[in-house]
Amino acid sequence: MSQTSSSQPLPPMISKTAQWLTSLALALGALITIYILAKTTSTPFKFHMIIMLIAFLAGIVGIMNMGFYKKGQIEAKPSASGVFYNEGIIKAGVIASLFWGVAGFLAGDTLAWQLAFPALNFDTAWFNFGRLRPLHTSAVIFAFGGNVLMVTSFYAVQRTCKARLAGEIAPWFVFWGYQLFIVLAATGYLLGITQSKEYAEPEWYVDIWLTIVWVAYLFVFVGTLWRRKEPHIYVANWFFLAFIVTVAMLHLINNLAVPISFTHPKSVIIFSGVQDALIQWWYAHNAVGFFLTAGFLGIMYYFIPKRVNRPVYSYRLSIVHFWSLIFLYIWAGPHHLLYTALPDWAQTLGMTFSIMLWMPSWGGMINGLMTLSGAWDKLRTDPVVKMLVASVAFYGMSTFEGPLMAIKAVNGLSHYTDWTVGHVHSGALGWVAFVSFGAIYCLVPWVWGRKDLYSLKLVSLHFWIATLGIILYITSMWASGIMEGMMWRAFDSLGFLQYSFVEIVDKKFYLNALRAVGGLLFVIGSLIMVYNVWRTILGHGDAVPIRYKTAHSDDNDDVADEDKPATKLA
Ligand code: HEM
Ligand code: HEM
Repeated sequence: MSQTSSSQPLPPMISKTAQWLTSLALALGALITIYILAKTTSTPFKFHMIIMLIAFLAGIVGIMNMGFYKKGQIEAKPSASGVFYNEGIIKAGVIASLFWGVAGFLAGDTLAWQLAFPALNFDTAWFNFGRLRPLHTSAVIFAFGGNVLMVTSFYAVQRTCKARLAGEIAPWFVFWGYQLFIVLAATGYLLGITQSKEYAEPEWYVDIWLTIVWVAYLFVFVGTLWRRKEPHIYVANWFFLAFIVTVAMLHLINNLAVPISFTHPKSVIIFSGVQDALIQWWYAHNAVGFFLTAGFLGIMYYFIPKRVNRPVYSYRLSIVHFWSLIFLYIWAGPHHLLYTALPDWAQTLGMTFSIMLWMPSWGGMINGLMTLSGAWDKLRTDPVVKMLVASVAFYGMSTFEGPLMAIKAVNGLSHYTDWTVGHVHSGALGWVAFVSFGAIYCLVPWVWGRKDLYSLKLVSLHFWIATLGIILYITSMWASGIMEGMMWRAFDSLGFLQYSFVEIVDKKFYLNALRAVGGLLFVIGSLIMVYNVWRTILGHGDAVPIRYKTAHSDDNDDVADEDKPATKLA
């Protein structure tokens, strides 16, 4: 809905009613945790209830404190066009993304070393590979990726709509509520609480909490679109919205479970057998499609045009890209269940839709890359652009490899092998992490009001170290995966399997060690980034502090292509 009012917006105020109602809701949550604490016999559950109780009480104090010393007025400065953007939430999101990113990468590299040297499991329950693995996947996907998506979507939607984020409490509720979800999920894995569904391990009570937070996220996002001052909804917002809505649907259906008791963490999923497997992979595949792809495409559509100061290459292509991607992704899940008890027609359906997915994926890649038309020189001069462009190239690579692996004959070789792990990380490190790094490098000087980053040379160093790390990671996994796949199917002249399992594991040792070295380089790169961001915030080096209005002058109010309708979705 477009608002054309030219009246100067007033500084944001906190609503007393909203403050009291949210605090009451949190107080109710606190009472429930106290009840469970008194009744439960499960120690890990008790531990979680204590965390939730502390979080709810801290939430009440935080909310009642908002605007307390300024008669309800919220601290905010107007941009050049007079909009009081919510930038506090962006700063918090950037810091949280970096924190969880480093934690998740470290956990991943620990796993990599454990696979090469099993003694590193130290014979403990909580530090073994089985518990650390979901800690890693959730930390990188949901904690790092989720925070990056929230912060970039909150930034992009405000700027492209020329409107402050909807609500004063709601965005902070989403932010802190999401951090609580992460802490509960992560500590749950180490304590041994899991419903054993990959990428959906948390138990019922954490799922309910995430549902509440996610609905609030949807309201904040849609509410901001609703109050926009721009007639068009910029294409990045379509991708962000598809990501938010679809993830809500996936999460709700895949987690339909009956708790064995209100005072026990364990629950039983309502689906069973092959139906359960299909729902699970419908969920997990679309988590890749909408969490790790659509959301990050939203980042690509906002940050690349903005950084290179060019319009999006093609408006038409962005529409075709959007609708075909979301239509096709939903059907491709069965490619995770090839050669299983799933009916054959469903497997073929999954394979066919996966192959078709190649086209919209590459359409998106081309749209992202060609946005640089006329600005290719920036690839030489700006390492942040290099990072963003490399991410799109990796997106193209993993979305070529994915359809290939979905072909039944190819999957017969690749499934259960390290090839899958290599594919995952060319998408995860090359695409997801790189586009996130690029966006964070853009955001930090913009929101902290700095002329530039502390050091572009360090960005370049980060880029090369991380790229080398990714190359070592994915090439070692290709070699290891194809080797183990071939060894598994080798027969001798009498028809017996030629290699025992342990022989194959032994052969993978050097490649596993190489992957761990690649992972270490990636971790080092991310630490360089943290250092660079820290010095930028402090205003050192090239990060000269500039006056707020200059930093946020009109060129940062919208996407670069604001006046060119060819870049908008109507
Ligand atoms: C330093 C960086 C990283 C390292 C060293 C690393 C390492 C690992 C290792 C060793 C595994 C277990 C593989 C196995 O079970 O055989 C794994 C799994 C996984 N990682 Fe990472 N990882 C890193 C970053 C990331 C990032 C940034 C993401 C996502 C954004 C990610 C997503 C995943 C996923 C989804 C799996 C499960 C793969 C599957 O089930 O096939 N990783 N990672
Ligand atoms: C056109 C796009 C894509 C297609 C058709 C596709 C297809 C596939 C296939 C066939 C598998 C192997 C399934 C198996 O044998 O178990 C797979 C695994 C996976 N892919 Fe993709 N892929 C695509 C893009 C991506 C991207 C961009 C990412 C990451 C950002 C990604 C992340 C994953 C993950 C995490 C898994 C491992 C799931 C698991 O077993 O735990 N994929 N994909």
